[in-house]
Formats: sequence, structure tokens, C-alpha cells
Amino acid sequence: MAAYKIAVVPGDGIGKEVVPIGLAAARRALEVTGSPPLATTELDWSCERYLRQGSLMPADGLARLAEHDAILFGAVGSPQVPDHVSLWGLLLPIRQHFDLYVNLRPVRVLDGILSPLRHGTRETVDMLFIRENTEGEYSGVGGRFHQGSPDEVALQTAVYSRRGVERIARYAFERARERRKKVASVTKSNAIQYTAVLWDEVVRDVAESFPDVEMTSYLVDAAAARMVTDPASLDVVVASNLYADILTDLGAALQGSLGLAASANLNPSRRYPSLFEPVHGSAPEIAGRGIANPMATVWAAALLLEHLGERDASALILQALEHVARDGPRTADVGGRASTSECGSAIVGAIGSKDEASAFPASRSALAE
Ligand code: NAI
Ligand code: MG
Repeated sequence: MAAYKIAVVPGDGIGKEVVPIGLAAARRALEVTGSPPLATTELDWSCERYLRQGSLMPADGLARLAEHDAILFGAVGSPQVPDHVSLWGLLLPIRQHFDLYVNLRPVRVLDGILSPLRHGTRETVDMLFIRENTEGEYSGVGGRFHQGSPDEVALQTAVYSRRGVERIARYAFERARERRKKVASVTKSNAIQYTAVLWDEVVRDVAESFPDVEMTSYLVDAAAARMVTDPASLDVVVASNLYADILTDLGAALQGSLGLAASANLNPSRRYPSLFEPVHGSAPEIAGRGIANPMATVWAAALLLEHLGERDASALILQALEHVARDGPRTADVGGRASTSECGSAIVGAIGSKDEASAFPASRSALAE
């Protein structure tokens, strides 16, 4: 039984506190289902490393990651390092080099967690965001001229390619087939007449190959309002890198805490390892206090196992997560008093027997392929 090779990058701050819990949940679930274990490579790539050695990862970092089946990532960021340096020094190169063009983010309220929405329950808030993850506004194309002078100008160009939009749209429609057969495509094509209009046209073309899926286009401002006023009308939501980045933080807020929001950065062709991470950052102001919510990372670990084909193990983790969300112990961000490790141990301890996995409704997992 060959072990799964997993690269583990805890990063900075609370990344180092929550990643061990995600890993423990994955290991326990695989043990229960009698699946191959994880063989992990722990990598200290981080802002801490940058401050010590001058780079977030070694020169051959991407090649080393490429030898793994998947990557479990915590968060990278430090008050002592500009955020654009840390983001462009590690996470963005990984997403671009490995062509992790799908960023998938389930936005679902768990029983027992209070959503700030008066009507926010598991029935009304259950969306699956599909964010384009390699181009758009985060392509890194642009420049600054006359830097520091009164004539300074900065340009940042969004790059939308037909191929890039088509593949993300196709992925969204495929996921929609496994859910409520609805896709919301989000742009701003009234004001942004080149890139956003190309997006709309390509999504409409792709929609024609999925006649069983209903497609609606929304402007991003209206989509943000709709997430609050009528979230139940949204199921799969597909949007560009920037828009979905912003909307999914709103989604995390609707879930009740950023400490619950998980994401998968996927290369569906599986040519390169995919990366799984909580949506939140390194949260320096609570780092080291043992109070970070580990649930987002546990959820990310469930997505990782699902991607590896370990659907039962993944379902067991989600079930344990739902159990602890409902009955506690919960961390402070979701109204409890538990520490990271108390909440984490409860989740790992709640990972049940193999038979329970099949009782978990498949529709509640995000990644079915
Ligand atoms: P953040 O996500 O670290 O924190 C935002 C707020 O949410 C803070 O009040 C924090 O205490 C709280 N929070 C986040 N995760 C939590 C958890 N698991 N449990 C309880 N509370 C939690 O975002 P912020 O403050 O904007 O960024 C901090 C650093 O993290 C920056 O350097 C930023 O660049 C980096 N960052 C890195 C990301 C990544 O590695 N993917 C993503 C977002 C930010
Ligand atoms: Mg974000």
C-alpha cells in the first residue's frame, strides 16, 4: 500500500498551529478507512525563512513540490514583510507554475455556528465558489513609471484568455451537475467592456454544452448584495480571480468566521500537485496564543483526501467537523472558549467508523469528479 506523498507548508503565524490538526484529522481518517497513509515532507517555507535567508522558498522549491501528490498549506504573511512580497514569493508562483487554475471554496453554514445573517442556515447558505486562479487581475502584468515623482503612474493589466475562461467555466458547470444544476457567472461587463465581455461570451458558449444546467450572469456588485439578501438563490458561483477573492471573504463571513473557510487550488488534469489551504491568513495578532480555529484547515484536509480519491475518509472528516461545530468545543471566533488543540482533538476524536462514511450524503462533498 503505497503512501500518499504530501508536502506540508505550515508557513507563518497560526498556519503553524492549525496545519498539524488538519494533518492529524487526515491521518486518523485514512487509518479508519484502512487506506494508504500519508508520507509527509515538512517544509519551513515562510516569511520567517525570508527574514533569515532572503527567500520564502529555496530556488528548487517548485521542483521539490512537484514530487508530491498534494500540498497542505497553512498561511504565509508577517508584519515584517510586505504582503506583496510574501504572496508573490510563494503562493502565487505555486498557483501559476502548477497551473492550479481552479480555486474551489465551499461556503456553507454548519449547524451550531451562528451566521451573521438572520436567515443564515445550512439550508439557505450552501454555495460552491469556483474562482479562476491563474490569470485575470492577478496575472502580475503592469509596471510603475516615474516612481516616487509627482508624475508617477502605475498600470496593472487584467489578462483574460479564451482558454482560461473556458476551462474554469467548464469546471463550474461540471460541479453544478452534481449539485443544484445552477451556475451564477459573475463579472462587471457593463463597465469593463473588454475582459469582462469576453468572459460573458465564453461562459455563454460553454453553457450551451450543458443544457441541463441553468446559467445566470450577475454583475459583481449585485452578486455581493444577493449573497446577503438571497443566498439560497445561489449554488455554484464562477468568477475571476479578484471578484471571487472578495466574494469568498464575504462568503466566509456569512459562514460565521474566516476560521471556517477552506479552499482547494486544483489542477484538474493532475499533471501537478494540487494545494489545499484555509482561506484565512497568518493572523499575527492571535498567533502563538493557541486560540485559532482549526476548522478551516480540517475542512481543507477533507478536500485534499477527496482529491486523492479517498472519499470515505473525506466524508468522515466532514462528519466529525459538523459534529464538533454542533456540539463543541468551539474556539472563540465562533462563540466558544476552547483552544485550538481542544477543538482539534475533539474533531480527530469524532472521526468515526468506516460504516459512517457511507451515511454521509455525497452531495455535501464539494469535489466529486
Ligand atoms: P487573516 O485571515 O490572517 O486575519 C483576518 C481576521 O480573521 C483577524 O482578525 C484574525 O484574527 C481572524 N482569523 C483568521 N483566521 C482565523 C482563525 N483560524 N481562527 C480565528 N480567527 C481567525 O488576514 P489579515 O489579517 O488580513 O492578514 C494577516 C497576514 O496573513 C498578512 O500578512 C496577509 O498577507 C496574510 N495572508 C495570507 C494568506 C495566505 O497565505 N493564503 C491569505 C490571507 C492573508
Ligand atoms: Mg482572500
